[in-house]
Amino acid sequence: MLTRDLRTDSAPLPRIIIYSGKGGTGKTTVSSSTAVALARSGKRVLIMSSDPAHSLSDVFAVPLSRTEPTEIEPNLFGLEVDTVYELKKNMSGFQKYVSDSYKSKGVDSGVASELTTQPGLDEIFSLNRLLDESLSGNWDAVILDTSPTGNTLRLLAYPELIIGGNTGKSFFRLYKNMSAVARPLGAGGSVPDSEFFDEVNLLMKQMEDVNKFILRPEVTFRLVLNPEKLSILETKRAYTFVHLYGINTDAVIVNKILPTSNTVGEYFEFWSDLHRKYLMEIDNSFFPTPIFRSQLLRTEPIGCDALFEVSKMLFKDELPDKIFYSGKNFWIDAKKEALPNMNREVLCIRVPFLKDAQDVQVVRMGTDIAVTIDRLNRVITLPRILYSLEMENFVRENDVLKVLFKETEKSELNVDKGILNKLRATRKMSS
Ligand SMILES: Nc1ncnc2c1ncn2[C@@H]1O[C@H](COP(=O)(O)OP(=O)(O)O)[C@@H](O)[C@H]1O
Ligand SMILES: [Mg+2]
Repeated sequence: MLTRDLRTDSAPLPRIIIYSGKGGTGKTTVSSSTAVALARSGKRVLIMSSDPAHSLSDVFAVPLSRTEPTEIEPNLFGLEVDTVYELKKNMSGFQKYVSDSYKSKGVDSGVASELTTQPGLDEIFSLNRLLDESLSGNWDAVILDTSPTGNTLRLLAYPELIIGGNTGKSFFRLYKNMSAVARPLGAGGSVPDSEFFDEVNLLMKQMEDVNKFILRPEVTFRLVLNPEKLSILETKRAYTFVHLYGINTDAVIVNKILPTSNTVGEYFEFWSDLHRKYLMEIDNSFFPTPIFRSQLLRTEPIGCDALFEVSKMLFKDELPDKIFYSGKNFWIDAKKEALPNMNREVLCIRVPFLKDAQDVQVVRMGTDIAVTIDRLNRVITLPRILYSLEMENFVRENDVLKVLFKETEKSELNVDKGILNKLRATRKMSS
């Protein structure tokens, strides 16, 4: 069972680095390179993967256990989290209930067991295992190679979403009591055992723990991207998200950069030039978060030695467990006005040296804003809650740029169009 004496608030943690990014950008390669470099500097390192498409064993060319850390080379251990194993170990009651209810609908038992590990659950168990390993005292550093961006990041917002805070908890308690009454009355298989509820409650507790843990100063996020349009767009969204959640992003990694055009040959000239352009855009978009770059190598970096070379290319003489940056770059302040239905939100953006800037401009461009500070142009993807609001103006306060957004009648229509239409339809019918 999931019992953990949680000292997440106080116990010293090892250094924890979570790599995230779109599939294929090089998360596994960069995570593994980081791990090799740290292990070769004499630290005890665990590299874990939470991507169901496991590839650590491929990248290291070493078979890895899915239940316990396997030694890869001195000081370096790897673990590919097997969510079915974690589920069985931690939540047999939960799994039984979910797979029974699939089976009662005619789903084959093998398929049913596979279905009990949904993408969200995969991540929960991986993050839990990460927390356990971090508290084990076995490691100086734990590196997590995650599945493509969305899942892990969204998970960090889950506790409120799926538990619904205290309301959700009391709902579960109520439901548990009801099911205890319903069972003897013959409701049978469709009513979960009390073990199910205990485990769900524990799962909720764990997610809260994970949430607290993620915000600890020893834990940082790093986003991996390629100099390509879609990769940049997705990373900008992720960057906004992690900042709003207060997660420290200490580095952005640009991988698979083509060398300059005189070395790539004519065929790739266009791509090489495009990369240069995107590299500038990346510099502007993630400033002042430090950016590390690695080139597209002639071959795939497989095995510890090749990975070590990648880490040298990325981090040069720095040890990659350094916390490269810890500033909070933007956040939202809600500003409730006297008018009851009129919400104002303030997007605060920290801009180093803003005090000294002569010319500052902010322009709304759909779901982005372009901030021009003297000659520096920075495009920031807005958080969703601001999408439908109207940008009003901005003010400068020391090194913080405050951009004011207000709700308009139009924006309200946008948000609730479906509901409004339904209301109109019912009104029509009743009149
Ligand atoms: N800098 C690089 N140079 C050459 N090949 C690379 C580089 N980085 C990654 N690769 C290769 O690109 C593919 C995808 O990388 P991988 O690390 O598995 O990405 P992800 O984990 O993000 O899906 C792999 O075949 C890997 O060997
Ligand atoms: Mg991978």
